[in-house]
Amino acid sequence: MEWWQKAIIYQIYPRSFNDTTGNGIGDLQGIISKLDYIQSLNCDAIWLCPIYPSPQKDFGYDVSDYQGINPEYGTMDDFDQLIKMMHSRDMKLIMDFVPNHTSDQHPWFLEASKSKDNPYRDYYIWKDPKPGSSPPEPPNNWEGQFGGPAWSYHEATGQYYLHQFVREQPELNYENPQVMVEMKENMRFWFDHDVDGLRLDTAPLYKKDQSYQDDTIRENWDENAGKPAWKKWHFKPLIDVNGVHDIIAEFRSVADEYPKKMLMGEIYLEFERLMTYYGEHGDLFQFPTNMTLVNEPFDLEVIKPLIIEYYQWFSKEPYTAAWPNWQFSNHDRLRMASRIPHNLRLAFLMLFTLKGTPITYYGDEIGMLNGDIPSGQVKDPFATLSGDAGIIHNRDRCRTPMQWTDDDYAGFSTANPWLPISPKYQEQNVKLMESDSTSLLNYFRELTKLRQTTPALYLGEIAFVPVPADNINQLFIYSRTDDRSTYFILLNFGNSPLELDLQALLGLNNFKLILSTIEMPTFTKEFHLPAHQGIILK
Ligand code: NOJ
Repeated sequence: MEWWQKAIIYQIYPRSFNDTTGNGIGDLQGIISKLDYIQSLNCDAIWLCPIYPSPQKDFGYDVSDYQGINPEYGTMDDFDQLIKMMHSRDMKLIMDFVPNHTSDQHPWFLEASKSKDNPYRDYYIWKDPKPGSSPPEPPNNWEGQFGGPAWSYHEATGQYYLHQFVREQPELNYENPQVMVEMKENMRFWFDHDVDGLRLDTAPLYKKDQSYQDDTIRENWDENAGKPAWKKWHFKPLIDVNGVHDIIAEFRSVADEYPKKMLMGEIYLEFERLMTYYGEHGDLFQFPTNMTLVNEPFDLEVIKPLIIEYYQWFSKEPYTAAWPNWQFSNHDRLRMASRIPHNLRLAFLMLFTLKGTPITYYGDEIGMLNGDIPSGQVKDPFATLSGDAGIIHNRDRCRTPMQWTDDDYAGFSTANPWLPISPKYQEQNVKLMESDSTSLLNYFRELTKLRQTTPALYLGEIAFVPVPADNINQLFIYSRTDDRSTYFILLNFGNSPLELDLQALLGLNNFKLILSTIEMPTFTKEFHLPAHQGIILK
């Protein structure tokens, strides 16, 4: 079994994790000083969001130097120390890597902007204005992911350049082989620094349809229903375009120059397309992200068919050797605890018992809620550009500082943090929850420990157990089996309790209660599973 199959991955948004310099911004020493904590969660890999030098127009996803460390976060020595300390603890580090676009302050773009015949011009995607347009109009109707035209006009050279995120994130041109040569060198730089894996940002976007035809509007799009560009456009010329796999295969070939390196690809696509990113011969991503639980409501009726469908793909060629993965949240979506207010323990029980590598986002283990960002203090460009600084598209809300204590600034910093502390930090912080044996944090630890020490749970097969028709949208049962044992996971998603006859349901006489979301003093074959609760039996 590979390390990335067995691992529990803890995602860190470095700006918000732990500040040791007193500037209100998290840093690498802050992560180093919390390695004990991360290990106490039984997480053995970290996915670190970008830490490169960056003007921070998209908080690190606008990279101005692929081979450096943002001085706000520390130095290369700090980074090497982090890797060394992690490896001495048998932990792995996955770094975010952003090959689709650079910052407009990257030396390549500064050069490329100088003139049409600059040697770096072709590193980016430039087009003339629409023929005959005056004043100039974009070459086609493509919009960016954050809304607004995907083209910005460059006065000095009279051409448009392509960007699907903020205008300060010009897109690289992989039709130019030199770009790939440079990017491979940048990847090697980090593998030579001993990182264990890279998470490739926006993986299906690297190839653009070379006809540069207009995009088309979705059939069911309602002009009055709000802004998000992904609801309006098909993005066919921009996302998952034929040829994108060849680019990813090149990236994978770099990882394969080293032993035991892994590539994770950020992919929001339906399963049929998502699966192709494993590659026909397992030669693309080891880990194309499965966003089912990030995208969908925590509603059994919705997710059960998707969970079952996802696993069905792994029983078909060419994916029988591929490995699944799961996550509930990340730095781009609202907080899990805010989306799943009644069933957080149940959600974790499922995350850590499904087959496939689990990813958990910093702070979810203490039930951190979405932050409140006063208008006027919104930092996220998605919120400001999409015109929705309030609820849905304000990613600041899931990026507020980690809540370590009930001290000022939640023990994150001694200075006013770059984003406000989420209001509930006095009840939800690591210090307080560590001292309470019944807290969510300690439950999380119990669960991750069980996962890490139980082969049936980390590598066993999964099977779905039929449930009575009248419980079909409320009760979810599956088993995990290795050559020694079978574990049953029973989850009540409903608002009402269930009276269960375990013998009839599971066809077994003897069970042992292994773990439960609640105290369960009496436990017999006929038992009562309260609303929103779950158990693991053996
Ligand atoms: C996906 C990242 O997760 C997101 O935070 C970022 O804004 C875009 N890619 C652009 O790099």
